[in-house]
Amino acid sequence: MKGIKIRGTGRCVPQGVLTNQDLSQRMDTSDEWITSRTGIRRRHHCKKETLTGLSLQAAGEALRKAGVAPEKIGVCVVATVTPETLVPSTACMLQRELGLAEDTLCFDLNAACTGFLFALHTVECLLQASSRPFGLVLGAEVLSRIVNWEDRSTCILFGDGAGAVVVESREGWPSIGAVMGCVGNDRLLHVDGPGSGRPPLLSMEGQRVFKFAVEAVPRCMDQVLERHGVTADQVDFFVFHQANARIIDLVVRKYQIPAEKYYINLEEYGNTSAASIPLVLSELEEQGRIKAESRVLMVGFGGGLTWGGALVEFAEGAYGDERK
Ligand code: ACO
Repeated sequence: MKGIKIRGTGRCVPQGVLTNQDLSQRMDTSDEWITSRTGIRRRHHCKKETLTGLSLQAAGEALRKAGVAPEKIGVCVVATVTPETLVPSTACMLQRELGLAEDTLCFDLNAACTGFLFALHTVECLLQASSRPFGLVLGAEVLSRIVNWEDRSTCILFGDGAGAVVVESREGWPSIGAVMGCVGNDRLLHVDGPGSGRPPLLSMEGQRVFKFAVEAVPRCMDQVLERHGVTADQVDFFVFHQANARIIDLVVRKYQIPAEKYYINLEEYGNTSAASIPLVLSELEEQGRIKAESRVLMVGFGGGLTWGGALVEFAEGAYGDERK
């Protein structure tokens, strides 16, 4: 059996920034309410940028940092619920723009905010059967296009961005041991698709999703730790889906995770759904806070309802040094 490690990361967020102050001029809300309830201060929203454009930038940076040539990619999966076009998929456009080989398996995947972890797990499995050792995994969203600006309890939460990782698959490396799941629920978090005949607007029962998250995240973490036979102390870094600082605080307190072992960037980006975990990974790699062989436990949850967790290692020398 082969396992995967992360070789390089990349990210791209749109330039346009919407602050809590900006929002308070458009609707009945305040910086104080948003910050105290969520931890969010700003979010980046696309003006001219596109989902495909953000994805291309993030993927290009990840390939450069990994030192991996595009033609060595065997699988490319983009997790998104906001593709620019349903057909072709975002991943197909990356094939053309990045110059991936024509027999690279390229497709988009929807598991809402857990999408990146579903995609990482999928890529690990598919690389078992690939003749090439590298995979490209993205989480990318333009949620500003589907938020309901009439609903102040949700529109303040979401932002746009794309994050990417290049993984390498090798015989003898540990599996990420992903734990994934879903329970079908079309009420707590809902966005209509083209088949419904209704416009795609995000609706959410925030308090119930909050309750689901504070139960699902620790359950998922425990399962990942058990699967890997490690304790929380033996994990080098924790990366949580960036939905709400209060959810992360509750989990961090429960596991007594020290401040230097986790990271919050939602004050700058808001909830970017599938992009949130790879955005964190990319910032951590850039800051040198994840070292070679670091073991990183990632946990996400979201619409579906879905949840997922995995423990991934970073590959030696995956920090922009010259390889291959
Ligand atoms: N500004 C000011 N007041 C507001 C706002 C706002 N933007 N939004 C709601 N309120 C008001 C409500 O009207 C309500 O007023 P009332 O008591 O007079 O009726 C009051 O604030 C409390 O509203 P709640 O909805 O109960 O607020 P809550 O404390 O639950 O916070 C929030 C809402 C932030 C959405 C929270 O429930 C949450 O974060 N839930 C988790 C959501 C989540 O993580 N979703 C993502 C998961 S999946 C994915 O990533 C897509």
